[in-house]
Formats: sequence, structure tokens, C-alpha cells
Amino acid sequence: PADRFDAFRALADRRGRPGGRLIESLAEARAGTADGPEVWAPAVAGQVGLPAAAGLGPATYYADLAAPHGRRHIRVCAATACFAAQAGRHLDEVEHALDVSAGSTTLDGETSVQPVRCLGYCYAGPAALDGDVPCTGPTLARQLAGQEPPSA
Ligand code: FES
Repeated sequence: PADRFDAFRALADRRGRPGGRLIESLAEARAGTADGPEVWAPAVAGQVGLPAAAGLGPATYYADLAAPHGRRHIRVCAATACFAAQAGRHLDEVEHALDVSAGSTTLDGETSVQPVRCLGYCYAGPAALDGDVPCTGPTLARQLAGQEPPSA
């Protein structure tokens, strides 16, 4: 939609030299959209003065940029310490509690769950980041479902 590209142009206007802050611009464009990078990354690259491939490269290489993001984006650790804490059940519990499959968004685009490798809360796993809010421990799914306060 035209309004979306207006947002990209405004984003580029805030940047300095061509290509400056490409990754930050891609991350801003990524936030809150389930669309794949092929939809928005070429436009972002173009708006910072780079060819389309310069946007598609990092947007498809970095998992955090490639993953679909809902308006509420949850990163769930699937690395060794968190996996071992509950024999790998925590990701299934989160999917069930939020009714969304890992690596996708809900149909309304509201919530997304992205499996990631280590969030730095290995000592308290299983762990997740609900936006910027850490949630940890055996009640992780209940915390993310709003049935308990976040615990980190
Ligand atoms: Fe899960 Fe480090 S292994 S936070």
C-alpha cells in the first residue's frame, strides 16, 4: 500500500548518507508485519540509496529479520539449556497457550512466536522475550498467556 511506502520514505529521510543504518531501517520495517522480506526489504534498500539486493540479503540472512512479526512478537528460546529444563515441552506449551505455531503469526497478525537460540537467561529457563519483557521458568506459557505476571 502507498501509505506503507510513505513510511519507508520518512524512515529514509531520517537517515544520513546513502545506505546508512540499513539494518536499523530493516528492523523498523520488519516490526509488526507478517509479510516476508521480499515485500518490504527492496523498498527499504531503495529508500536508503541501495539496490534491492542490499536489502534482501540481510533481511533474509538474519533470522530475526526473516521471521514474521505480529504486533506482539515473542521470541522463545529453543537452545540447549531451555530445552533441557522441560525436555523441550515449553515451545509446545507456548504454541498451545497462544494458539500460534512457532515461526508464524496468528491469522489476524496480532501475535507471532519465533524460536531463537539463547536469550541469555539460561540459568532460569525455559526463557522467552515478550517484546522486550523477559519471561522465564516452568510457568512460561502461563506468563505469556497473561495468566501469571512475567518472571525473570
Ligand atoms: Fe535458553 Fe540460553 S539456552 S536462554
